[in-house]
Amino acid sequence: MDLTDLLDTANGVISREIFVSEAVYQAELDNLFTRAWLLVGHESQIPEPGDFFSSRMGTESVLLTRDSEGAIHVLLNSCRHRGMKVCRYDEGNTLNFMCPYHGWTYSTDGKLVAVAGELLGVPHFRAGYGSRLDRSAWGLVPTPKVCNYHGLIFASWDPDAPPFEEYLGDFHWWLDNLCSSASGDIGQVRVVRGVQKWRIRANWKFVSENFLGDNYHGPPSHESVDAVGIGPGGTSAATRHGAAPGKPRSVASTSFTRLGHGATGSARYFLGYPAFEEPELTAYFERAEAARATRFEAEGRPIGAMGPATLFPSMSFHAGPFPRALMVAHPVSPWETEVWRWYLVDADAPPEVADWLRRYYLRYSGPGGLVEQDDMENWDYATEASRGPIARRYPYNYQLGIGMTQPSALRGAVESDYFMTEENARNFYARWGQFVQGDSWAQMMDGV
Ligand code: FES
Ligand SMILES: [Fe+2]
Repeated sequence: MDLTDLLDTANGVISREIFVSEAVYQAELDNLFTRAWLLVGHESQIPEPGDFFSSRMGTESVLLTRDSEGAIHVLLNSCRHRGMKVCRYDEGNTLNFMCPYHGWTYSTDGKLVAVAGELLGVPHFRAGYGSRLDRSAWGLVPTPKVCNYHGLIFASWDPDAPPFEEYLGDFHWWLDNLCSSASGDIGQVRVVRGVQKWRIRANWKFVSENFLGDNYHGPPSHESVDAVGIGPGGTSAATRHGAAPGKPRSVASTSFTRLGHGATGSARYFLGYPAFEEPELTAYFERAEAARATRFEAEGRPIGAMGPATLFPSMSFHAGPFPRALMVAHPVSPWETEVWRWYLVDADAPPEVADWLRRYYLRYSGPGGLVEQDDMENWDYATEASRGPIARRYPYNYQLGIGMTQPSALRGAVESDYFMTEENARNFYARWGQFVQGDSWAQMMDGV
């Protein structure tokens, strides 16, 4: 798809068409969601052989499974016979998936193990297919690429996609913190059971853009939440302690200029951790914080890869230290998005800490979360007010902070001079444009 007239990221002018046009949306499904690495789930959701979690990649239903040998698979949840969803449960444990329509049955690694009636002793395989059906060719379709990144499971439908670590680049410091315990132990987190899923009447890119570096919207959009005091200590949501000495009041955003990922903070400055009303929580997090500081110094990890961030294209998260949660914006139509939220806690968090965090996450994020409600209201109304034929003639403005960046110590990244910038969004949409117009991986990964 030719985006020349729609996308001028160098000058910060982007057509509303990319948020409301059905043609652009179809090009996203064809060229972006079929190629990019996408988050599917977390291994703590499928700890045992036979466990499965029904997930999504773009508009498509997929099954994250752990087979009888313990291996992890991502499979298209669509029967090879006539396309029926072979599994309609959100999660569970099973020996195999029997399609409800005609009964084709697949093992948890996706192999077609039986056709209709076989398990019941009715010989359709012999009588109906003359034993000639090539079962090895008709298994559930697996994603050609799967990566278990410290417990987070990513997949891509493109066999030519680069390794996940290359796609990630130095943005990995943020992802590492997301999947680290509060004391910085990588991989030592688990999902709080239950994924929140809800639909919003907004284009999916509003979600990504919000988390990848939009510090601009905070004061006007979230003032009422800050006034109410939903923070851990009954104060502002943003009240923090223990920030690194020398940290400016507002820290710069970080943008991975070619890869398209972005974060609202700088890797150089620790955001601090909140104060709690409960002494046992304060003790838990202070202990964890001390351990983390020692560990980060010993391992040479940057102290500040925290806060809200977006992994291109559609996984957004709070990398901690607080909260630690992630979301995926699944496209439904140009004007509708299904948002899924996972909440993470330390793998060994005591029950009272995990439960306190669960309650805090729910009042902060998700459909009932006060902060997220502010954001969703903006995204919904912006999408609606951009759909009309007159509104569509006028592009959006992304000119905040043009030319106001400095190199980051991280490869392929810049930091903005001022903490409010649209540099991250401009680079995100430049990357988005490459995918949607069908650039090759060689073009997209050259020199990143
Ligand atoms: S659609 Fe699944 S067995 Fe026919
Ligand atoms: Fe917000």
